[in-house]
Amino acid sequence: MKVLICGYGRMGQEIESVLLTRGHEVTARVDPDPSRGDAPSLSAELLERSEGVIEFSLPGGVVTNAALYYAAGIPAVVGTTGWEADRDTVQEMYQGKQGEQAGAALLYGSNFSIGANLFRVLSEFAAQIIGPIQDYDVMMLEKHHSGKQDSPSGTAITVAESLLQAHPRKNRIVTNRLDRRIEPDELHVASLRGGSVPGTHSVEFDSPADTISITHTARNRGGFALGAVLGLEWLSGRTGFFSVENFIEDVVAQARRNQA
Ligand SMILES: NC(=O)c1ccc[n+]([C@@H]2O[C@H](COP(=O)([O-])OP(=O)(O)OC[C@H]3O[C@@H](n4cnc5c(N)ncnc54)[C@H](O)[C@@H]3O)[C@@H](O)[C@H]2O)c1
Repeated sequence: MKVLICGYGRMGQEIESVLLTRGHEVTARVDPDPSRGDAPSLSAELLERSEGVIEFSLPGGVVTNAALYYAAGIPAVVGTTGWEADRDTVQEMYQGKQGEQAGAALLYGSNFSIGANLFRVLSEFAAQIIGPIQDYDVMMLEKHHSGKQDSPSGTAITVAESLLQAHPRKNRIVTNRLDRRIEPDELHVASLRGGSVPGTHSVEFDSPADTISITHTARNRGGFALGAVLGLEWLSGRTGFFSVENFIEDVVAQARRNQA
């Protein structure tokens, strides 16, 4: 595929290397920072030369960019985080007019790593089993590098929301510092920032006697980039708005079929 990369920072550069390894071609590297990329902004003309887009940029431009991808009628994978408040606007753009713009498809995920998505599924399953056992409480911790601009991470929010769905005693997520006792129905999600950590997420089920921990540790950004490129290959030929959860469910189902 001919792919445009929007946002040529740490992730954009990883994406390029995975795209080339998998036999794709890069049409442009869009980035407003003159020291990065080869085009300062998106345009209909650049998109016309492309069969797909992968965006890992900063949250401010996501809605405007998505409208351009939609108008171009090409699949777009958006890995940028921190734009949850605008998600409905983008989803309505794609779903409200679904079918009018053939080929317009957007796949969004706060974490494209296949392993991190399996971690989310496992955590949810653990909450279903352990949640009803009164002795065990649950909490979350995430760690990221000093350059990360949002907190808690999009992945932590997604996993925490899955836990609330699955856990019988947790109804609210709290992410701020607590200068009081935590309420029994609150799920505390703590963030730590520093160094070069690409991303570590832990869910801990804690009782007076022991702790059961589930942890996903990203070793580098390669896992996110590979997931995003596989996501674009999966998205090609579809129309509409998809979450990374839809994509992963399909990956797991396909692996099961191959095993059978
Ligand atoms: N979904 C995932 O799996 C995943 C994984 C890692 C990082 N992320 C997210 O991806 C984003 C980028 O992460 P990063 O580590 O590459 O950051 P980075 O700061 O290294 O790179 C971001 C780049 O985007 C550029 N940019 C800013 N506004 C832009 C715009 N309107 N159009 C095009 N480019 C623009 C910046 O100049 C910069 O070069 C962040 O939101 C991060 O949280 C998501």
